[in-house]
Amino acid sequence: MMRKFFALVLAVTFVVPAAWAGEALPVPEKTGGMSLLQALSERHSSREFADTDLTPQQLSNLLWATAGVNRADGKRVYPVALGIQDTFVYVLNRKGVYKYDPAANVLTLIEKGDHRMETTLGQNFVGRAAVNLAYVHDTSLWEGKKTPEELIHQWGFVHTGAAVQNAYLYAASQGWNAVVRGSFDQEKLSGLLKLSKGQSVMMVQSIGPKP
Ligand SMILES: Cc1cc2nc3c(=O)[nH]c(=O)nc-3n(C[C@H](O)[C@H](O)[C@H](O)COP(=O)(O)O)c2cc1C
Repeated sequence: MMRKFFALVLAVTFVVPAAWAGEALPVPEKTGGMSLLQALSERHSSREFADTDLTPQQLSNLLWATAGVNRADGKRVYPVALGIQDTFVYVLNRKGVYKYDPAANVLTLIEKGDHRMETTLGQNFVGRAAVNLAYVHDTSLWEGKKTPEELIHQWGFVHTGAAVQNAYLYAASQGWNAVVRGSFDQEKLSGLLKLSKGQSVMMVQSIGPKP
């Protein structure tokens, strides 16, 4: 009896947190907001950010608008080639580095601490943006499929571009600033995000309230 009790305590203490080092996000708000036409009118790139954080609700809304699930069958707010959801959003904020799980609406912790400046080759505003999103393409999900490699690569950019524009529009609708960035150190960022073979960073995007 005692042995079983200790086994249970051990499992709850070590096994459960190891398997689920995630942070549940609030349910995203999917109604209201600025009109789409107004958001399109206001979309632009800006590199000026207030050094403030998003609330969990704001972060959840932004991630859902960027790459969330919008149907019961698991499909997303942007179109996905052949239904292979090969593009992932990572979040870098003051607290840490996380991977967004759109189906579970959870952030999985990759690394603690403020690593935002590791997403740039030297653009200083990056460290002030509330969040930096890294878009990661995973070609390993296409293994065994007949799709030519070149198309898989092109489609990865299509997925990323669509999600990037979603995030721009959501930022515009909130009166925040945003800028997408192709200038970053692939090797350094892949290491920080703990990417494996077949995975690479396509773009990063700085988003947050204006100063
Ligand atoms: C593929 C791509 C790469 C970009 N890379 C960077 C970058 O590394 N750093 C940056 O500050 N802006 C970058 N930008 C933002 C552009 O400079 C910006 O979109 C452009 O000036 C047009 O301005 P707009 O977005 O306000 O229309 C990039 C944009 C695109 C589409």
